[in-house]
Amino acid sequence: MTAMCETDVLIVGSGPAGASAALFLSTLGVDNIMVTKYRWTANTPRAHITNQRAMETFRDMGIEQQVLAEATPHHLVGDTVFCTSIAGEEIGRIHTWGTHPAREADYQLASPCLVVDIPQTYLEPILVKNATQRGTHTRFATEYVSHEQDDDGVDVLVRDRLTGTEYTIRAKYLIGADGARSQVAADLGLPFEGAMDLAGSMNITFKADIAAYVGHRPSVLYWVIQPGANVGGIGAGLVRMVRPWNEWLIVWGYDINEPPPVVDDAAATRIVRDLLGMPDIDVEITGTSLWGNNEMYATHLRKGRVFCAGDAIHRHPPSNGLGSNTSIQDSYNLAWKLALVLRGQAEPSLLDTYSTERAPVAERIVKRANQSSREFVRFFEVLGLLDATSEEEMRAAIEERKANTPAGAAKRAALIEAMELKNYEFNAHGMDLGQFYESDAVVSDGPLPEPARDEVLYYEMSTVPGSHLPHAWVGDTMSKRAMMDLVPYDRFTLITGIAGEAWTDAADKVAHDLGVPLETVVIGPGRAVTDLYYDWAKLRAVEEDGAVLVRPDKHIAWRSMTMPSDPADALRGALSRVLGRG
Ligand code: FDA
Repeated sequence: MTAMCETDVLIVGSGPAGASAALFLSTLGVDNIMVTKYRWTANTPRAHITNQRAMETFRDMGIEQQVLAEATPHHLVGDTVFCTSIAGEEIGRIHTWGTHPAREADYQLASPCLVVDIPQTYLEPILVKNATQRGTHTRFATEYVSHEQDDDGVDVLVRDRLTGTEYTIRAKYLIGADGARSQVAADLGLPFEGAMDLAGSMNITFKADIAAYVGHRPSVLYWVIQPGANVGGIGAGLVRMVRPWNEWLIVWGYDINEPPPVVDDAAATRIVRDLLGMPDIDVEITGTSLWGNNEMYATHLRKGRVFCAGDAIHRHPPSNGLGSNTSIQDSYNLAWKLALVLRGQAEPSLLDTYSTERAPVAERIVKRANQSSREFVRFFEVLGLLDATSEEEMRAAIEERKANTPAGAAKRAALIEAMELKNYEFNAHGMDLGQFYESDAVVSDGPLPEPARDEVLYYEMSTVPGSHLPHAWVGDTMSKRAMMDLVPYDRFTLITGIAGEAWTDAADKVAHDLGVPLETVVIGPGRAVTDLYYDWAKLRAVEEDGAVLVRPDKHIAWRSMTMPSDPADALRGALSRVLGRG
């Protein structure tokens, strides 16, 4: 093949995984090209719940304010409602995404960012714009066709969809971020567990002003349980906010074993009016699309110079809102490693740790999302809907929760327990934030301590190597900074206290010897950064003269509990191991 152009990294796909990979690489100064199949970014809202870790990556890239400007803010995302229609009766509400007053503190303490809602149609353009401004060559309407790799690089055949012209891009590395039907993953023959297309779902997007019915119970999700409603096997219709409170998306289930339903404007309008419970409301249908519910994850994410990220490696229902968030974090894990290897600062073996670290995350989120989806059945079970054989029986079963009878009382009690279970979908803070890495890019000093609380619901901060850097607010008289702000994406950072100031010289020497960007931050009174609330002192677990070495992706690579006799030697040993040079 004759290469028409060359680059360091070629990215296939401009979804959350691909566009963020482009942004991270360009921010690090790595030459990259992003090819994507269509003429523009996502055309339906799909992903929207954007969790704290994803927001932290945007903060790190300096685009947090751009995202917040387009997002529905945290305080409007969380009164998730279960009802018989939007205008009809409520069955229950649950505070979600960390908006319960008792949970809000957990979220605030764990991160400088909060969960917000930004539809994929709004987020992707921000990522693509910033990536392209920073150096990414973005090629729309350009389709990945095939690839061949050798010891030095990958020849990727792409097709210009406007002209039909095919040409080859020679890249040192290829990232397949081409979604759940990834051709790159298929061509690589990545090993997968699970199955695809277990249930069918349809999105109906529409405009209708229903502020009067929802403004006082602001949420992104309203679950409608009524006869005939069905979604992805869950058994309820979902009315999801896209823009408050006049743009919406309905998720509606269909039998995937039958031909896909054709829903014209009249049928879509009827579905919308039924779920809203507003038979005469003016509705503008703006689109319909179909998608499959999957339970599938790759157990290895790389072959040679080719990596896959995002839905290409984890395919699951939207429950828990993990897909886009995890996709962005995949790329965040990979990009800094590619940059170090491309610059010759790390051995190529560092790239193996992408798969070691992210494959377990893929498995965990796919299983969690599917379990949450299945747990919806409990809700129907306690309402008595599973045995209902007609619409009348279903209505009567829902109605029974109001009865002053033993059966009514039992149903009310069971509903409390069923609502509690949904915390595992809507307030799974430990699932969102508790990613812990065990790999050659972490110098382990032991496992995480036994969790004091449920590890799906609750996140516990730790400096055990492999954990994410704990959050605390630090700064000075004039400014307040998050711990993560001390650790930019383009370097390793060593954090110590005043008694550990000797680490600074040690780190300078190691940075010089290894030719790797490494800075020291001393936290303490009279230093550049003060532990404003003394929170870091309580979280760091190391002594004041100890040190915590943090990777560019904010995971802890190594820690020294105290000052060793030769700090440079100890640090050099640890960093060399992380870089595959030890
Ligand atoms: P994605 O599918 O987004 O992008 C793939 C890209 O590859 C596209 O740009 C496509 O054009 C391109 N492509 C494909 N084949 C190609 C080829 N051959 N050549 C070139 N380009 C090619 N997630 C979340 O975190 N929070 C949430 O709230 C939700 N909610 C949600 C609701 C609904 C209804 C759905 C269906 C999904 C969600 N998700 C979600 C999941 C989320 O949408 C999903 O996980 C991400 O879009 C995955 O991002 P990727 O970039 O991996 O793939």
